[in-house]
Amino acid sequence: MMSMQIQLFLVDANCLYPCTIPISVDFLASSAFMETDTVAIIGPQSSGTAHILSHLANELQVPMLSFTALDPMLSPLQYPYFIQTAPSDLFQMIAVADIISFYGWREVVTIYSDDDHNRNGVTVLGDQLAERLCKITYKAVLPPDPTVTENDVRAELEKGVLALRLHTPDSKRKADFSARWNSLSNGTIGLNPYGLYAYDTVWMIARAVKMFLDQGNNVSFSNDTKLNNVGGGALNLEALSIFDGGKQLLSSVLQTNMNGLTGPIKFNPDRSLVHPSYDVINVLENGYRQIGYWSNYSGLSIVPPEELYAKPPNRSSSNQHLNSVIWPGGTSNKPRGWVFPNNGKQLRIGVPRRVGYRDFVEQVNGTDIVHGYCIDVFLAAIKLLPYAVPHKFVLFGNGHENPSYNELVNMVAADVFDAAVGDIAIVTNRTKIVDFTQPYIESGLVVVAPVRNMNSSPWAFLRPFTPLMWAVTGVFFLIVGVVVWILEHRINDEFRGSPRKQVMTILWFSFSTMFFAHRENTVSTLGRMVLIIWLFVVLIINSSYTASLTSILTVQQLSSPIRGIDSLIISNSPIGFQVGSFAENYMVEELNIPKSRLIKLGSPEEYASALETGRVAAVVDEQPYIDLFLSNHCKFSIRGQEFTKSGWGFAFPRDSPLAVDMSTALLTLSENGELQKIHNRWLSKRACQNSGAESDQLHLQSFWGLFLICGVSCVIALLIYLFFILRKFKRHSQQASEPSSHGSSSSARLQTFLTFADMKEDKSRSKSKRKRNNDLMNGGRNSNLPGMDPIC
Ligand code: SER
Repeated sequence: MMSMQIQLFLVDANCLYPCTIPISVDFLASSAFMETDTVAIIGPQSSGTAHILSHLANELQVPMLSFTALDPMLSPLQYPYFIQTAPSDLFQMIAVADIISFYGWREVVTIYSDDDHNRNGVTVLGDQLAERLCKITYKAVLPPDPTVTENDVRAELEKGVLALRLHTPDSKRKADFSARWNSLSNGTIGLNPYGLYAYDTVWMIARAVKMFLDQGNNVSFSNDTKLNNVGGGALNLEALSIFDGGKQLLSSVLQTNMNGLTGPIKFNPDRSLVHPSYDVINVLENGYRQIGYWSNYSGLSIVPPEELYAKPPNRSSSNQHLNSVIWPGGTSNKPRGWVFPNNGKQLRIGVPRRVGYRDFVEQVNGTDIVHGYCIDVFLAAIKLLPYAVPHKFVLFGNGHENPSYNELVNMVAADVFDAAVGDIAIVTNRTKIVDFTQPYIESGLVVVAPVRNMNSSPWAFLRPFTPLMWAVTGVFFLIVGVVVWILEHRINDEFRGSPRKQVMTILWFSFSTMFFAHRENTVSTLGRMVLIIWLFVVLIINSSYTASLTSILTVQQLSSPIRGIDSLIISNSPIGFQVGSFAENYMVEELNIPKSRLIKLGSPEEYASALETGRVAAVVDEQPYIDLFLSNHCKFSIRGQEFTKSGWGFAFPRDSPLAVDMSTALLTLSENGELQKIHNRWLSKRACQNSGAESDQLHLQSFWGLFLICGVSCVIALLIYLFFILRKFKRHSQQASEPSSHGSSSSARLQTFLTFADMKEDKSRSKSKRKRNNDLMNGGRNSNLPGMDPIC
């Protein structure tokens, strides 16, 4: 392929594993071979040496290709003649950061040899972790000392179980080469991906030189005047010469587009290799297994990267997969990671020693054990962290009244506590000094005032109208009746008759319009006009009455003038607040309520008695407490809207990684429904349930006044009827005065009375008439049928 002999120098070519070579030796060796005319260099192996030799390569314009000096800081801008022919360690660090983020670990400790190459790699890893909200908390450095043997490091690293290996796709060429290599070396020299990259690098240069020569370029060198003037002494710098075609050869190398043993080889415009990728290896006690791949194209996957290149890139977290890992100890459960570092001590977590509303946080029988809604939420969240957090709860407060929550938070800021857990509202003053987690429950200030359910009155049906309204309505019914009677009387038979009948007609007509049930026809134009207007008025009055009665009977009526925070502020009445709560400061500082109006209350029982006795007109407190309070005290209700929006969270010192991790854990609890279950376990108490669902039902109590009126009128009507019918019956009996009826038994008289009462009036009246005629004719004999009075 090549028509002339070209000198290529391989620096440390047989050392395919990382090893340490004193830079001076390397440098001297390199400068020595540069004394002979050289068109390209393969090497050096170490990044430290590469940093120095690259200057020389720049000066002599000799392309220098390395497949092991992969320090990401070897910048192509600074070292234009230096080319990395294997993926830069930048990509290895991205892969490591992706794996750490994949397993949800947030903080890492790095162990590395303290040399240029590794130091720079760890710096890049730190940047990559920061992009994934993770960080390096400790850098454990090993001295770049030849006495640290490979075995020592291996023994350490094997306690870490995942490793990355440069990925080279399987191919026939690779398999053939491997077989050839084994037979050439009799199986005594192993082959790893760096060997394949070495092979490809040689071919890369060979092709570039061919392209260089094909383009008509010559290999020629010229003296470097700068080096001549330096006076190299033992280094013999004057012997070095500049490769005249260096620029062209460099450009030919960068135009490489070939299929090597390591797969397709091509450079991006930024001189990095296309499609860097790694195998993810699970190191086991007696070997290793591959659990997936990492590619810069799509992140972590269990399919080889070359298959992914055919699809669009997808680095979304849902597309990241690895096969299961056997972790140290032979378990496949992902380790939680390290223990939260607190100088080996347990975290001191301050919790309020509550006196009222102890469902939120409660000290168990004077012990140091605490339980409650907030504690359960905290424990559930901490279990989800990828690392253990040894902690102990420290009670804060005197046990006689709720402690000041502002002080509790201050103690976190002052490092007295490492965190504060409880029903702690996230408010501005506090967020300035500590970091809160995401809120785990919504909270906001509300006003509670007494309510009286006024639908219990039996005379509730009168309440839609005031007495005056009732009086005016009644008078108008009569006026309209009289007016229509006047307008109709002369022309309408239905409005004529005896005076008594006409009075009845007026009353009946006017009141039956209330239900649009009047039977009398109006025939005069004026009468119809009055009637139609009146019916419209009746329609409006009826609908208003119905609407008002409905609301009176179904909606709870407030017996206090407090309608919400605004009316409470202007009322000048005393206001209750929970001792220790931020609500006191808020009302004084934000709402400008004089402190003298504020009354501190400690427990739900105190709330109830203060509201009932009128010691306070209303209580201002957070929704979760009030929900609990109202579930046991049914005579009060929330007035108006929540007037602040906030939530409760756990407090941590500023910049604590725990605040972020706990927030994530709380979101997980919220999304998987666990938060709601904890809430239901502690806070869903419903002693007042009856006043809820059933409050829409109407009870007899609200109506017995109406039934009473109806019943009394029925009884009165019956009594009047009885009075008249008995009088008639008596008269009839006297008129009949038959011998058979005298002295008859009382049961026979009762039967006769019932027959009399059962008889239809017209029939009885006609029979009575007929009988009277007969009596007149017969002298009153043989009469036993009664006559009826028209009233009855
Ligand atoms: N939740 C209140 C506060 O944080 C205490 O009652 O101030």
